Amino acid sequence: MDRDARRLAMLREMGIRLWLPPQAAAAAPASAADAGTAVLEDEAAPRAPVPAPASIQPPHAGPPRTEARAQAEPPPLRPPQPVPAELRRAPPVAPPAPAVPVTQLGGPLATMDWAELRETVAGCRACGLCESRRQTVFGVGHEQADWMIVGEAPGEQEDLRGEPFVGPSGELLDNMLRAAGLSRQPGPPDKQVFIANVIKCRPPHNRNPEPAEVAQCEPYLLRQVELVRPRIILAMGRFAVQSLLRTSEPIGKLRGRVHRYHGVPVIVTYHPAYLLRNLPDKARAWDDLCLAMDTARGA
Ligand code: URA
Repeated sequence: MDRDARRLAMLREMGIRLWLPPQAAAAAPASAADAGTAVLEDEAAPRAPVPAPASIQPPHAGPPRTEARAQAEPPPLRPPQPVPAELRRAPPVAPPAPAVPVTQLGGPLATMDWAELRETVAGCRACGLCESRRQTVFGVGHEQADWMIVGEAPGEQEDLRGEPFVGPSGELLDNMLRAAGLSRQPGPPDKQVFIANVIKCRPPHNRNPEPAEVAQCEPYLLRQVELVRPRIILAMGRFAVQSLLRTSEPIGKLRGRVHRYHGVPVIVTYHPAYLLRNLPDKARAWDDLCLAMDTARGA
């Protein structure tokens, strides 16, 4: 499938087909897998504000409690900018399957296997978040996945169910993944992703995690990355991005290029909860997914 066809299919999967000219929207194939040669929308064309399709509307008017943190994303730029020419023209150079360095943590964490790591995370009492959590949220997906998705921290639903991204933002994430031919459901490692958060326990009232909590928890993520050895990490939302990349730069300044986390290519994008409330930025998220696909594929 060529890039334009993928784009069209992805726009449809992400619920933003309304932004397409009617002809192109009608031509959008039912799924990324079905995409053939469809007409690409004009990226420079002004986009009329449109109501969110019902399928991606949050269930109630206010920000969902579990998604509250992500509302603090930087405000969207208006009007949306076209994709930079260099991104349209040439995909980034293929990264080789990364060789992740051995964890510089000392202690047993650096050599833990999956079972030991799961058990250690489940019993973790390294910071105060253990007092209020129902359970830890370790992560889910293929243990050798090509793709790792990294979010911020569990919210209420995740704390209840023990799985990351199961609220409304998780639904959008699943749609985005589907558009890219990926899923959290069982499948081969090039199709099934691994989803994890920087923080494994829900912060009370969904407050932002504190630096000390991140410092205690991030080694678990690092060990997960070492064990998975993904070809690509998709970092979602300001908090995850800034934690992984050790920067305070806003997402808008970090998007569109390939960063590294312990040798693994990282693509920066918006948090799904933010996208639910800032629909125009879905087009940018689509561009980020395209860059991630190209990078993972080594195109
Ligand atoms: N937001 C996140 O960043 N992670 C989750 O698991 C849920 C919501």
